[in-house]
Amino acid sequence: MSFLEIASLSKNYGPVAAVAGVDITVAAGSRTAIVGPSGCGKTTLLRLIAGFEAPDSGRIVLDGKLLANGGASVPAHLRGIGLVAQDGALFPHLTIAGNIGFGLDRKEPKRDERIAELAYIVGLDKSVLKRRPHQLSGGQQQRVALARAMAMKPRLMLLDEPFSALDTGLRASMRKAVAEMLESAGITTILVTHDQSEALSFADQVAVMREGQFSQVGTPRDLYLRPKDRMIAEFLGDAIILPAKISGGFAESPLGRIAVDSKERRDLARIMLRPEQILLATASRKELAAAKSGVLFGEVTESEFGGAACAVAVKLLNSPDLPEAAAIGSTPLILKKPGVDAPSVGDIVCVSVVGKAHVFN
Ligand SMILES: Nc1ncnc2c1ncn2[C@@H]1O[C@H](COP(=O)(O)OP(=O)(O)OP(=O)(O)O)[C@@H](O)[C@H]1O
Ligand SMILES: [Mg+2]
Repeated sequence: MSFLEIASLSKNYGPVAAVAGVDITVAAGSRTAIVGPSGCGKTTLLRLIAGFEAPDSGRIVLDGKLLANGGASVPAHLRGIGLVAQDGALFPHLTIAGNIGFGLDRKEPKRDERIAELAYIVGLDKSVLKRRPHQLSGGQQQRVALARAMAMKPRLMLLDEPFSALDTGLRASMRKAVAEMLESAGITTILVTHDQSEALSFADQVAVMREGQFSQVGTPRDLYLRPKDRMIAEFLGDAIILPAKISGGFAESPLGRIAVDSKERRDLARIMLRPEQILLATASRKELAAAKSGVLFGEVTESEFGGAACAVAVKLLNSPDLPEAAAIGSTPLILKKPGVDAPSVGDIVCVSVVGKAHVFN
């Protein structure tokens, strides 16, 4: 049974429909990630779930209990939901220890130990506990906010970009530590993030939000490989989108004949490949001149060093003619290749595809 159920949830701020009919169910103990462009309503949705805002319409049910139904709503402090706000929202007049221990019973004998333990879990040094929030960096403040929310042992944890002020290395280790901690405590979690790889690696379920609604909800794998449209595809990673003529489970495309993920389609459509599905092998102009049909060659027109992953642009040299499909237009072939052996500008490469292409509706 689902732990959290949200149905037709809406919230307007004057003329702005911040949340415009959201439906989602979240399983107990699972992790959901919400991604979407700035201003699409992610924070508003979390505030509605936490009870800091009342919806105009729609329902929120947590563990079988109705929290909000239209305007009527259970107050935030009775919901058992933790919210780590985007800006941390620490209490400026309290010390860090006071902030972390805010929800703990003042008379609890092990209070200080518990605060120290929570600080340790989020990677904060004991020395900061006596300071006040303004004496901490943005990333440290985010970690205090996380520790404070964890201290309350919520049933549901809502995290609004809690790692945004952390550098890449710390961000990955914090994400892992927090995921483990939430999992071992059995806390169901909803994470809002701008980081696509964070969403895909953290969550069991990913929701892409656009203009107050969810455009698509599914497993990370499903959304990454079978996005409903171009915007969703590009939100979750780089995408190569090509015009194609589809029939019998294959596409005739500028990259030749490629297997697609639909057996039924029989029309002109856009197909999508993730850049890592396109392989390049070193080749020569001689091989190009002797190319058999079905073997595709390209020339590297740009190669930008980026460390682990270099952006390599490839112009196709013997692409099959597709006059009908070509009208749909295609994106250039820009691939990410490991820096150690990335091809250089002018190199001739043999191009092949692994896996299936996804057909857009
Ligand atoms: N208290 C408010 N009063 C009026 N409008 C608001 C209020 N809070 C949010 N909005 C508007 O509602 C829309 C959704 O805002 P929200 O903060 O939920 O977006 P978001 O998806 O969290 O964006 P970001 O990624 O930038 O944090 C925006 O157009 C915003 O300007
Ligand atoms: Mg926000």
